[in-house]
Amino acid sequence: MGGFSRRDVLKAGGALGTIGALSFATPAQARVWTWSPSGSVAGTGAGLDPRWVWDEEADPLVASLIDRGDVPRVNALLRTWTKNGQPLPDGLPADLRDFMEKARSMPAWADRGKLATAVEFNDKRGLYLGVLYGFASGMISTVIPKEARAVYYSQGGADMKDRISKTAKLGYDIGSRNAYDDDGEMIVTCVKTRLVHAAVRHLLPKSPHWQGAADEEIPISQADMMVTWHSLPTTVMKHLTSWKVPIPDHESVAFLHSWQLAGHMLGIRDEYIPASWAEANSQAEQVLDPVLAPTPEGVKLAEILLGLGAQIDAGILSKRILGAFTRFLLGDQIAGWLKIRRYPFWDGVLDTFWEPFIAVREGVLKVFPGTDNVYWLLDELIRKLVLLYLSELKEISIEIPLTNNPN
Ligand code: HEM
Repeated sequence: MGGFSRRDVLKAGGALGTIGALSFATPAQARVWTWSPSGSVAGTGAGLDPRWVWDEEADPLVASLIDRGDVPRVNALLRTWTKNGQPLPDGLPADLRDFMEKARSMPAWADRGKLATAVEFNDKRGLYLGVLYGFASGMISTVIPKEARAVYYSQGGADMKDRISKTAKLGYDIGSRNAYDDDGEMIVTCVKTRLVHAAVRHLLPKSPHWQGAADEEIPISQADMMVTWHSLPTTVMKHLTSWKVPIPDHESVAFLHSWQLAGHMLGIRDEYIPASWAEANSQAEQVLDPVLAPTPEGVKLAEILLGLGAQIDAGILSKRILGAFTRFLLGDQIAGWLKIRRYPFWDGVLDTFWEPFIAVREGVLKVFPGTDNVYWLLDELIRKLVLLYLSELKEISIEIPLTNNPN
């Protein structure tokens, strides 16, 4: 890990991870949902098309908090609620308190043993996770349509850098050692985010900008939630597998479990959360892959992400290297959509040396004479990528918005 502590890497992984939840876009293609609830953590379900399901508990409640003027007081009170095991602050409206008590409780299927293994996995793989969350999930998010448009026209869209810091919190919390423990913060973050999403469903339909641009009335359906979910763990695992990183089955299952739980705590119904990687991959093929599309807003966001590197290290994190890395991870089509140029030298280095580099790092291959410099450079690249997003993470409180993006 060189100059990085595990905490730094996990922090960075977190920051990167939630960038996957940011994006700008045009409407996704409407596709019929055929994925069966028999493959879900619930194992059964009503089988409703999740494009038309939102959050029936949180949505009317938060709409009412907004309409009756309770949000500033609630936000002030919730600033003091930061740890999973902490009692809710006194003075919350009774209906909100009831909802939050229920929403913060873990489902019966939560498995402490798997969560402990997930911690080991995050410890061991924090560096790769950080890089993948940022440059696979983060860049994919720029070509996910509906979520992106929602973000663009909501309050957070007015200040993207601030929003990156804010959303970084969830990714940091899920990678923390105590994520779901009483002294951790993941449950708090998920419940607050669930409230934020409910607020967005109430506010965004009133935005004239959004009305003009979107092809839907109420944003952030359960289907949209799963699309974004797949841009995170499913995408990350796909790349780790293709890089041939050795991951024992129990660690892979545990990593999935930590994200299944995140989905549940964010308000996704159990009948839509895949029970296994096979189910996750089949659902992603159905809901994520077909919606990816270029948009002017996504191109702008990708520009911002590619430009951030120069703040840390204009040499190793130059736009050209990050551009080449994005092309390497996501392929020519997405790189083309994002108007990323070809950089023959760097494209070649990554195509030729990345896999052996990972094999050397994993101890399954010896360094060939003459390649040390390339491997050193690639190692620097992943460390700097992690550092880059680390710099975006700040102490932040997730608050219920009251407005849309005025611009
Ligand atoms: C807010 C994460 C899915 C749109 C947030 C926040 C987090 C987050 C942590 C709070 C940050 C803040 O206050 O700015 C996630 C995760 C998702 C997910 C982990 C799925 C697993 C979605 C989807 C959409 C969406 C599918 C849209 C279709 C938004 C919007 C905000 C938000 C518009 C509020 C921005 C603002 O006005 O401040 N999300 N999100 N999210 N999210 Fe999500």
